[in-house]
Amino acid sequence: MSALTDLNTGIALCRQCEIVNTRTKSVPGEGAENAEIMFIGEAPGWNEDQQGRPFIGAAGQFLDELLASINLKRAGVYIANVIKCRPPENRDPLPTEIANCQKWLDRQIELISPKIIVTLGRYSMAKFFPGKTISKIHGTSQTQNGIIYFAMYHPAAALHQGNLRQTLKEDMMKLPPLLAQAKALKQKAAEAEAPPKPEPPVQQLSMF
Ligand code: URA
Repeated sequence: MSALTDLNTGIALCRQCEIVNTRTKSVPGEGAENAEIMFIGEAPGWNEDQQGRPFIGAAGQFLDELLASINLKRAGVYIANVIKCRPPENRDPLPTEIANCQKWLDRQIELISPKIIVTLGRYSMAKFFPGKTISKIHGTSQTQNGIIYFAMYHPAAALHQGNLRQTLKEDMMKLPPLLAQAKALKQKAAEAEAPPKPEPPVQQLSMF
């Protein structure tokens, strides 16, 4: 069993928040275990709660479309949420729920070790860009401990505000060059860590 599957079992058994009593299934996340890009949304909705899979409703369809626009499939990335259980009536996650679920998200990030984390929406953004406003920082990135964090609006926002559709599409287009940048960053870090190559032996000049 992979460490991530093990983690998902831990998430399914977690009973730390009240909402475990009203949810149907936990929604740990899914995708490639070695994904270079990890998307982090807010919380499961009704569809996700029924099936135990993230972003499979209307917002998820738009996310699939956005991924396809840069030649990505969900199987090639990892998709998770800040909290793993659906809040009743899709209310906003509570600070205690976010705090309780932090350990699961932290461990997911540790195991997947993505090069880029894309925050989808305010709650996810608040975790990695504290004190910032989504309308100001969407489409921008910051690097911390070798991971590039990139902020985007939540795909569901575009379902209510049509003009955000284009904004999300434009922000998504920034991901491929950012990934190239992330790869170069990792390469540089690896080179800096590698032991110095031994000097070639000095050639003795032969008299003959
Ligand atoms: N919205 C989210 O933030 N996450 C999901 O999984 C679905 C909708």
